[in-house]
Amino acid sequence: MYILLMGPPGAGKGTQADIIAEKYSLPHIATGDMFRAAVQEGTELGKKAKECMDAGALVPDEVTIGIVRERLQKDDAKKGFILDGFPRTVPQADALKDILAELGISLTAAININVPTEDLVERAVGRRVCKGCGAAYHIKFNPPKVSGVCDSCGGALYQRDDDSAATMISRLSVYEENTRPLIDYYKKAGLYRELDGSQAIEKVTADFIAALSA
Ligand code: AP5
Ligand code: MG
Ligand code: ZN
Repeated sequence: MYILLMGPPGAGKGTQADIIAEKYSLPHIATGDMFRAAVQEGTELGKKAKECMDAGALVPDEVTIGIVRERLQKDDAKKGFILDGFPRTVPQADALKDILAELGISLTAAININVPTEDLVERAVGRRVCKGCGAAYHIKFNPPKVSGVCDSCGGALYQRDDDSAATMISRLSVYEENTRPLIDYYKKAGLYRELDGSQAIEKVTADFIAALSA
């Protein structure tokens, strides 16, 4: 299965992608995670990405398309993937179409997680992420068993630099302007499916699995 996962910041893309990737043994490829890894490594890409991320802006298309092109050429992605947070602009979607055509891959579905905008700031501000394995928690909606400690690997939890209410304002407006138009893009391609992301995590997962077998 070759799945695209779309949705506004804080919608639950990473949470659902982790579960679905494990269930179907697919690589979970998330451009945001790739940029955060580059920031940690202190590479040139990381420096550039950090500036954009901290401002709640998008990393330029040519940079983002380049890293996705490279990633999708790896062997593990040839058998399937769940692509989280890419594409986010129409030029990225066009580039993806070309990359997949070169690889001889057809998309299975473009899944959008829909959550009312007013809930998204609370989801982002309350999010805590594991330094060790990247698992996402929420102080209210999905708390770890021990505060500040990851249930699965025991790693320390931290708050992302871009998870402030102020940065969320930019991230949400960037989403509306650049990414929401992809809903129509994938409707026209006949690949679009929508999930009600305001439900509990397990319910969203059940709908996700149903959407994949529809
Ligand atoms: P990225 O890391 O992709 O951030 P995002 O799209 O803003 O999405 P998030 O990761 O914030 O949210 P999510 O949907 O994964 O939600 P999660 O599951 O964690 O991108 C970061 C930055 O990188 C961008 O701003 C940009 O600068 C750059 N970038 C990335 N991709 C790019 C691209 N293609 N082009 C250009 N630039 C790019 O859940 C959120 C919280 O809610 C968690 O606390 C979770 O526990 C909780 N939660 C999840 N589901 C539920 C539920 N059902 N009910 C209640 N709480 C829930
Ligand atoms: Mg995410
Ligand atoms: Zn962990």
